Amino acid sequence: MSSKSSSLKVGIAGLGRLGWRHADNLAHRIPHCDLVAACSPVAAELARAESDLGVQAGYSNFDQFLDHPGLDAVVLATPSTLHAQQVETVLRRGLPVFVEKPLALTLDDCIRLEQLAAQPGAPVAMVGFVRRFDASYQNTRRMIDEGRIGEPFLVRSQTCDRLDPTGAFLQFAPTSGGIFMDCSVHDVDLARWLLGKPRATRAFATGSIAVHPELKAMGDVDNGLAVVEFETGQRAVVYASRTFAHGHETSTEVMGTQGKLLVGAGAARDRVLLSDSTGVGHQSVADFYERFAEAFLREMEAFVAACRGEASLPLTLNDATEATRITLAITKSLGSGQPEAI
Ligand code: NAI
Repeated sequence: MSSKSSSLKVGIAGLGRLGWRHADNLAHRIPHCDLVAACSPVAAELARAESDLGVQAGYSNFDQFLDHPGLDAVVLATPSTLHAQQVETVLRRGLPVFVEKPLALTLDDCIRLEQLAAQPGAPVAMVGFVRRFDASYQNTRRMIDEGRIGEPFLVRSQTCDRLDPTGAFLQFAPTSGGIFMDCSVHDVDLARWLLGKPRATRAFATGSIAVHPELKAMGDVDNGLAVVEFETGQRAVVYASRTFAHGHETSTEVMGTQGKLLVGAGAARDRVLLSDSTGVGHQSVADFYERFAEAFLREMEAFVAACRGEASLPLTLNDATEATRITLAITKSLGSGQPEAI
């Protein structure tokens, strides 16, 4: 690992929709790090990383990528089905790892990785629950800590993507773990965080296919709804959609005994109101990245700072295990049509 005076040499695997954004941030916007290597099976992605981001070396082979001379840390933005094996390989090499959510698609894998990362002297391991680094969510957490809404007892949280008429997401849907693991795992993590990490006991889910009939064969839906019960009596309601007409809309409401907090109602891009012949309204946020661009930067800064020994991480692999545990029960309930014990 680098000393505080030298830059952290980071390699990234996965240069797709999100990986490219992380790579661009690591190359241009995150202090105290250099993006030195990239890994992807797609030659064009590697060529672009070399030409546009100044990455020294591109690898199609993951093990050769990890052999890159002087590599200090690894960022994984690969398909979710690959996370467990790749995180394990990186940790066993003694290198710090940042992995996009979800940590893994099975509970056994999560627990194994959590145990590996908990061993004495193990390198830094971090999962990308980006909303924890968003200023509004951090303010929400702070106000709960200050007692502003009394005792929080219910979180209602949604992750709703704008409808892509090309249906491009159908390509990655089979490796995503389903709509709940892909989208709602964020809301589940938020619910745990905002409610004080209670133990979940039961989940029930249902859903509908509003636009994409292809999902039926995958056992998936394009609009999913779930209720999670916690042993404290607290509850969470999560909703995920891939079919919003107007834009990306992530919002979260926390109900407490003396008030409530609401983050991100609607999908307004900014504070500008447009009045014209169609009426009065806002332009809308296009996608998750536009909504959380700043938080993605803060998240990667936190990883780099932890790797450099400058700060400890505000979230653990156990948080990722618990989010996967709950989201797996939700996903199971969608298939069984029954409440599932957690
Ligand atoms: P994508 O399909 O656009 O990109 C995947 C990338 O991985 C591609 O560059 C592909 O070439 C590469 N890849 C495939 N197999 C590989 C291998 N064996 N070794 C190295 N690279 C390989 O997927 P997307 O949307 O960028 O998602 C990637 C991950 O990021 C997923 O786990 C997803 O859950 C997560 N994600 C997280 C979000 C968040 O809000 N935190 C938002 C979007 C995605």
